[in-house]
Amino acid sequence: MSTFQAPKGTYDLTPPRSAKFLAVREAISAPLRNSGYGYIETPGFEDVNLFARGVGESTDIVSKEMYAFETKGGDKLALRPEGTASVLRAALEANLHKAGNLPVKLWYSGSYYRYERPQAGRYRHFSQVGAEAIGTEDPALDAELIILADQAYRSLGLTRFRILLNSLGDKECRPVYREALQGFLRDLDLDLDEETRRRIEINPLRVLDDKRTDVRKQLVGAPMLRDYLCDACKAYHEEVRVLLTAAGVVYEDDEKLVRGLDYYTRTTFEFVHDGLGSQSAVGGGGRYDGLSEMIGGPALPSVGWALGVDRTVLALEAEGVELPIPAATSVYAVPLGEEARRVLFGLVTQLRREGVATDFAFGGRGLKGAMKSANRSGARFTLVAGERDLAEGNVQLKDMESGEQEAVALADVSEVIRGRLSAPGA
Ligand code: HAM
Repeated sequence: MSTFQAPKGTYDLTPPRSAKFLAVREAISAPLRNSGYGYIETPGFEDVNLFARGVGESTDIVSKEMYAFETKGGDKLALRPEGTASVLRAALEANLHKAGNLPVKLWYSGSYYRYERPQAGRYRHFSQVGAEAIGTEDPALDAELIILADQAYRSLGLTRFRILLNSLGDKECRPVYREALQGFLRDLDLDLDEETRRRIEINPLRVLDDKRTDVRKQLVGAPMLRDYLCDACKAYHEEVRVLLTAAGVVYEDDEKLVRGLDYYTRTTFEFVHDGLGSQSAVGGGGRYDGLSEMIGGPALPSVGWALGVDRTVLALEAEGVELPIPAATSVYAVPLGEEARRVLFGLVTQLRREGVATDFAFGGRGLKGAMKSANRSGARFTLVAGERDLAEGNVQLKDMESGEQEAVALADVSEVIRGRLSAPGA
């Protein structure tokens, strides 16, 4: 292993690609900030029990993929594998649900950790932007979240994504279905592996999610949840669908969609992208009406989603979408000689204070090397000054697009540059 290597399943974000991640986070959060969602930040680790109870002991996320550890002080903690349980814990701790305004609408952005088998699009450290709307049961809220995610992806210029929608029923109808499914699966006179047998007992719905063709074949004729939904769940789901359709959001009903976390009830959805291979889910979420009680809180029906930033960037790259990322630097200053260094450094500081993105040729390189750096920086203008310019009270202002260069009086440089940068087409 080389000394300079990020841990397995992780990677660093470095310029210029890192700018895409910032732009994606910005684009995903913009519709949320515009719709009454307030920003929340929680610690990167929590009491391990929060996830065991919340996400579910039988899920892969908790049973196999959690970075759980004991601190020197004996606390049992886990790096957060997801955001929903933490956000709900924090909202309860701060009594946000008692402050009067329900739903409590929150958005977040951060790093999550799962000890998964790394592959393209699947990492051990990844980044999500998420939204949770806590304390209200209203199909319009489910629809709102799906519409906002759709808006976020569209604003980024993505087109090859699809929305899969399902209802997982509630605490009335799902247990009845679960039992029927379990009966069907147990009676299958087929050789299923140990793992799948175990799953039938603890989490039979996940068996439906099995991607292996031989397992899928055996599932033909399995009872479907759709046929077991109670009237309240059916009506709720129908309303979500009507609202989405009215908003012009296209979705696909996918009755096989079960998610990898135990807390979901009723509405569940996933955003999948067709250019990503097997790790196609760019985002997912749903309603979790029982989670608050599962972690020891009051009944707070809620809904939310999290979109994967890493996979969204991969989806953009798969579609060849170039985000309009403005050059980080507008002006690049190149001094020739000691005196010019001092004068130009002063000018750089002034321009920065006036809000112009400016950089400087550090390290006293020659003109050629410095001009190369100026080019690479993407700056629109270069300022060059040597002793003769300064003696005349000037600097040379070069427009890097047109190649034109002119002498401008030192005292006027800032105003001239700001004028040109704000001119239409600049
Ligand atoms: P999730 O489906 O586990 O849901 O994750 C959401 C998104 O995070 C995925 O669709 C994917 O884009 C990204 N993601 C997950 N694991 C990885 C990984 N190993 N590498 C790269 N990207 C990954 C949740 O986390 C729920 N908390 C969503 C939610 C919020 N439900 C209700 N509210």
